[in-house]
Amino acid sequence: MVSIRPTGDVLGATITGIDLSRAMSDGEFSTILQALGEHGVLRFPDQLLEPAALRDFSMRFGSIQASVTGKFQDPHVPEVGILSNIVEDGKPIGIADAGQDWHTDMSYRDTMGFVNVLNAHKVPRRDGKPLGNTLFANMRAAYDKLDPALKDRLKGMTATHDFNKFWEGMLAKGSTRGPLTPEQRKSRPPSVHPVFLTHPITGQQVLYCNPGYAVRINELDEAESERVLEQLFAHQLEPRFIHTHVWAERDLLIWDNIGTLHNALPDYGPHEHRMMKRCQVMADRVFEPAFLQQALAPMGHAL
Ligand code: SIN
Repeated sequence: MVSIRPTGDVLGATITGIDLSRAMSDGEFSTILQALGEHGVLRFPDQLLEPAALRDFSMRFGSIQASVTGKFQDPHVPEVGILSNIVEDGKPIGIADAGQDWHTDMSYRDTMGFVNVLNAHKVPRRDGKPLGNTLFANMRAAYDKLDPALKDRLKGMTATHDFNKFWEGMLAKGSTRGPLTPEQRKSRPPSVHPVFLTHPITGQQVLYCNPGYAVRINELDEAESERVLEQLFAHQLEPRFIHTHVWAERDLLIWDNIGTLHNALPDYGPHEHRMMKRCQVMADRVFEPAFLQQALAPMGHAL
C-alpha cells in the first residue's frame, strides 16, 4: 500500500510502499504524479536502482535529456548521468560540481525540464553528519507571496534563459569543467518562457524564473530588467520558501522543476565522497492534455 507522508515543511513528502525497481502500475504512476504536483519533491527511501531501471522509471515522466558534454554517463545506459567527486586512477568518475547554485533544470531549453531523478549511492559525512544536502525553493508559494503590484506588472512578460550563464558562473568559481566548445554552445541556445506559468498538474500559477539561467526580462529595458530580476531572485530565495533535503544512501529523490528551484550544497571536501546517479526528464509530455488525462485518470483526477 503506497503511503505519502508530507515533510510538514514548505515542500516535500516521503513515499513508501512501492518498489521502483519494477515497472509501476498506472495507479502507482498516477499517485506519484499527483503527489509530485502537490509536494514538489518526493523522497523514496531505500531504493537503489540499477541504471536500466532508473532510466525506465524516469521515462514514465517524459524523454530524458542527453548530457551536453557526452561525458560521465553510465557506460551501458547513457541516459543515466554520474555526479561525483570520486577520482579513480587519476580520473574523475562523474561531474563533480553539478547543480551547485540556485537553478531550475533546463529552463534554458524550449522544452523545459520537468522531473529530475537522483539516486544516492554515496553521501559524504563528517562526524556522522550527512553533508551535500540539496536545497529546494517552492515557486508556487513564491508566486502567491509576490508583491501584488509586481505580479500585475510582470503578467504576460517573458524571460530569456541561457545555459551559458550557469556554466560561466561555475567557471568563475573555479570549476574544472572547462569552457563550452562552440558546438556545445550551439546545442544549447537561449530560450524564452513566460515569467509566470500555469503548472500542468495542479493548474496553479508558479514563478518560473531562476538565478542560474534567467538573463533578461524581454519586455523591460536592460537596466530595469536587471533590477527586477534581482528583486525576483531575492524574493524567491527567502528562507520561508526553502526546504532542505538531507540525503541518506539509497534515497531516490524526484522533483518537479516547473514548480521548484534547487541548489546542491558543496560543503564537503575531496575525500568526503558523494555519488549520485541522475536522469533529467524533459517536459515534453506533461503539457499534453492527453498524457495528463491518461496519467491522472486512475487517481480520479482526470482533467
Ligand atoms: C542537480 O542539480 O541536478 C544536482 C543536485 C544534487 O546533486 O544534489
